[in-house]
Amino acid sequence: MGRLDGKTAIVTGAGRGLGRVYALRLASLGADVAVVDKSLTSFKEFQAEADLMTAGSTVEEIENLGRRALGFEFDVADRAAQEAMARAVFEAWGRIDILVANAGGGSSTPMATRASDLPTKDLELVIERNLYGTIFSVNAVAPYMKQARAGKIVTISSGSGGQADPAGSYAHYGTAKAAIAMYTRYLAQDVGEYGIRANCLAPGYTDTGRLLQLSANAPGTAHQNALRRHGTPEELANVVEFLTTDLSSFVTGAVIQADGGTVLGAV
Ligand SMILES: NC(=O)c1ccc[n+]([C@@H]2O[C@H](COP(=O)([O-])OP(=O)(O)OC[C@H]3O[C@@H](n4cnc5c(N)ncnc54)[C@H](O)[C@@H]3O)[C@@H](O)[C@H]2O)c1
Repeated sequence: MGRLDGKTAIVTGAGRGLGRVYALRLASLGADVAVVDKSLTSFKEFQAEADLMTAGSTVEEIENLGRRALGFEFDVADRAAQEAMARAVFEAWGRIDILVANAGGGSSTPMATRASDLPTKDLELVIERNLYGTIFSVNAVAPYMKQARAGKIVTISSGSGGQADPAGSYAHYGTAKAAIAMYTRYLAQDVGEYGIRANCLAPGYTDTGRLLQLSANAPGTAHQNALRRHGTPEELANVVEFLTTDLSSFVTGAVIQADGGTVLGAV
């Protein structure tokens, strides 16, 4: 028996990277998983991600684990698409137990996104992709979880959401991720009476295929943590497992850093 047998989960941004690993972990624990991404084959953008794939998509990988899977391709900043997705998952499986609102990321370059001179285009893109995407995912599943009087929600912040880059760069991303952490605290207070828990995971620099490829092009990035190494996606998935199972039954409204003890150069 897996810890999540009979449960269903939605993981956004699960076409590659951390989201894919979270989705596979939940499936390996017994859950049926709906995969959301603006591209379900986003792994093709990075050879290092493509090399990790064991099938044509995360959806197929989940099915190969013996679980049911659904795939949805849309931008998480599209509220109507989020609502249609949640409705479709509920109609197909009759329940929504878990949401991991993982889709997100930055844009542009650090020096072109300093706090004192943020281009509107990047600001809007990154606030929408991270903050609006998270809130719209939560709002889409909340009615089903409230009706069931149960649910586990994990949002994703970042070390950058807790500590400013010393140069004040990538300010749009850090600001969006800080807002996600605060939103999650409000959310936990709102939905606690329904038996729904909401927690936020704030990863430090984690070696996804994307970052491995980027750091190969820019060696020496971000080892500034107590453990003197980057995290692995599986280590992050361990925290997601904790937060989506009854192991964390008395944990809600928490922002959990999994960053190797980062004090500077947060990601
Ligand atoms: N990898 C790290 O070191 C690290 C550190 C801190 C926080 N994070 C956060 O963890 C999450 C996953 O990071 P990752 O490294 O796996 O990123 P990634 O870029 O490798 O994967 C992100 C996935 O989300 C999808 N996505 C992006 N914007 C979307 C949108 N608007 N709608 C739908 N799908 C969208 C992409 O297509 C991609 O498949 C992100 O929120 C990121 O900000 C990552």
